[in-house]
Amino acid sequence: MDLTRSDFPPGFLFGTATSAYQIEGHAAGGAGPCHWDSFAATPGNVAGAADGRIACDHYHRFDEDLDLVAAGGFDLYRFSTSWARVMPDGETVNEDGLDFYDRLVDAILARDLRPALTLYHWELPSALADRGGWANRETAERFAGFAALMGSRLGDRVWSWATINEPWCVSWLSHFDGHHAPGLRDIRATARAMHHVSLAHGLGLAALRAHGAGNLGVVLNFEPARPESDRAEDIAAADRHDATYNRFFVQAMTRGSYPETALDGLERHLPDRWQADMATIAAPLDWLGVNYYTIRRITAAAGPWPAWRTAPPRGQVTDMGWEIAPEALTAVLTWLAREYTGTLPLLITENGMAAPDALRGGAVRDDDRTAYICAHLNAVREAIAGGVPLSGYVVWSLLDNYEWAFGYFKRFGLVHVGFESLQRTPKASYHALASMLKGHAP
Ligand code: NOJ
Repeated sequence: MDLTRSDFPPGFLFGTATSAYQIEGHAAGGAGPCHWDSFAATPGNVAGAADGRIACDHYHRFDEDLDLVAAGGFDLYRFSTSWARVMPDGETVNEDGLDFYDRLVDAILARDLRPALTLYHWELPSALADRGGWANRETAERFAGFAALMGSRLGDRVWSWATINEPWCVSWLSHFDGHHAPGLRDIRATARAMHHVSLAHGLGLAALRAHGAGNLGVVLNFEPARPESDRAEDIAAADRHDATYNRFFVQAMTRGSYPETALDGLERHLPDRWQADMATIAAPLDWLGVNYYTIRRITAAAGPWPAWRTAPPRGQVTDMGWEIAPEALTAVLTWLAREYTGTLPLLITENGMAAPDALRGGAVRDDDRTAYICAHLNAVREAIAGGVPLSGYVVWSLLDNYEWAFGYFKRFGLVHVGFESLQRTPKASYHALASMLKGHAP
């Protein structure tokens, strides 16, 4: 890693991230069933039919994991709170669950790290899923109750709050593509989920503010579309993808409108009087989180709206098959600041890669990951040089963990986890970053 902290503005923060269901071990501590448990239990949905019951057993090992964050020289730790752990049926409080996050936040602070909390990173309580989940407006209203509870309990200590992680995945990937829980392929449920998760964000923001929490944001994912050719059909298809993926939520949350190109296909499926919610959805933010991994090549396809197809990636790809395109990160950040966020601070809340990492002789040589991170940090520097107000960069992920539909087969961690032994082994990329953050050569 040929970078140092001094290559970034003073006060620029470095962090690493995880999420509750992916690491905690959902079976511990009285958590209620969530829609990922049942999605994983349905044959064909998840590689190896794996679920998050044990995951990395972080619930019992969080001290060891936070020691790794601190020893890596990071400034902040991004984690999430499981709704199903804190409110097993979506409403009733599980005191053990609340106590766990109390202890976790105190343990983060005790190591001089900033706790960056995400309220919802996908473990919807089954009781709410049974009543229609995100396709039902009630889920957004219940989410506000969860936000109020967490805000009043932890608002005095948490450094930053994000309402929802990746609303596009919560809605489109899960209700249109069917790749994540609840595994639907239904455009009406998709449109409703897109609106209700946006509303949940707005109601959650209001609840957090009312309960004394500050520094509030949301985490959006961006995957810029590249038309496969310069044919007008491909350009239009890529624009439809951009409207539903990259513009939909940021436009709603900063301008209070949905892109016309997305409404062409979605409007007739949205709930009645959706327009009345847009002012709530566009309540002011204190920061915006940006998750960025790759770009997507798009070509026009026959069939009903949105009539696109994903074309194969080009050049180097990660173990997920995702094209490595650091220059697009500079472009996304510049575009966001110009079109939507202006002077609002942006934080890169996730960036990283999966690699087929193997533990050999007690070490993991993941030089490809170090190179990926380095290339993206240089892309970040370019965006900063171009005037984008960026406050930090967070690596996904601290640990190898439950990679959703890919089970335990895709490793994103800076730290290797043996899923039999649950042993943690920092990889070469962890050591490279630690050297950079602590200011000496590897
Ligand atoms: C985005 C999600 O927030 C996270 O849960 C996931 O593991 C990573 N991307 C990698 O796919």
